[in-house]
Amino acid sequence: MFTLAHMSDLHIGPLPAPRRLELVNKRLFGYINWHKSRKGIHCRPTLDRLALDLQQENPDHIAITGDLVNLGMNEEYIQAQKWLEKLGSGDLVSVVPGNHDVYVPLLKKRGIGHWNAFMTNDGAKSHIHKSTRTGFPYVRRRGDVAIIGLSSAIPTMPLVAAGRLGANQRKKLLDILLALGEEKLFRVVLIHHPPMSLAGNWVRGLRDAQELRRVFLQAGAELILHGHDHTHKIRAMKGPAGRIPVVGIPSASVSNHPHKPLARYNLYHIERRPEGWNCQMTGRGLEGASCDVQTLCQLDLSAYVQNNSSFALKWKNTSCRDNQTVD
Ligand SMILES: [Fe+2]
Ligand SMILES: [Fe+2]
Repeated sequence: MFTLAHMSDLHIGPLPAPRRLELVNKRLFGYINWHKSRKGIHCRPTLDRLALDLQQENPDHIAITGDLVNLGMNEEYIQAQKWLEKLGSGDLVSVVPGNHDVYVPLLKKRGIGHWNAFMTNDGAKSHIHKSTRTGFPYVRRRGDVAIIGLSSAIPTMPLVAAGRLGANQRKKLLDILLALGEEKLFRVVLIHHPPMSLAGNWVRGLRDAQELRRVFLQAGAELILHGHDHTHKIRAMKGPAGRIPVVGIPSASVSNHPHKPLARYNLYHIERRPEGWNCQMTGRGLEGASCDVQTLCQLDLSAYVQNNSSFALKWKNTSCRDNQTVD
């Protein structure tokens, strides 16, 4: 049995005091937005409490799907690096960047380069990513499980949070998925933006989602994990031999929001059985006014996705215990 933990959209605070020059670009909009609303939503003690609970579960690996920082200031990357190092080693933790992690174009050695230890291929020497996409996809093998990290993060204009993989990354992904499929590994793909983005969602969506879905249709995968929407969603994508579960997760630091779910993380218990893969999902997080991290749901993920007649599935509510709705 292999246990994979997933958390996303940490939006680590508190926000360091910006230097004046750091606000002469898109960051100014983000800075105003942070103080108007986000500061009261993303809570560092909540994130730390969730991380402590996750560590006590002793997972075999931890996946983090982006938006670790808020405005892409140098101090934030260093703060996030320290947080990651406290969570676990680069071998234990895999990170992919989100749109907030590539908020503005940055010189190499800055930005997400601080997190290289958490974003390299197995055995690769640590190196600075020269751009947001260099070094992606990366592959990490852990027993029967292969973790494939993608970068959908691109710098965009103010008020735009879209992502894109690009043809080069998609081609590499196709080759990797086909090769790992030949080896009969459980392939987990990490991406920040939801691969189910609708065409035309130019402002917040994954701009080449349609092309990415064609890659999965051809090569398959066993599980796709994403963040970005700050909601809990389970959906299914067509693969060559059935449906692929696609799971989105709320932000790991939300302690107060009028209509978004509170902080949570998911655990995936993955086991190879004679009849095929078994994947049990457990959600843990905050619910209601309680400050305790508790189990929110338990689900046979593969069976749920394969047996439901609808192509798109989603839980709209905070907890899996609440009503399930089918789109
Ligand atoms: Fe986010
Ligand atoms: Fe995002």
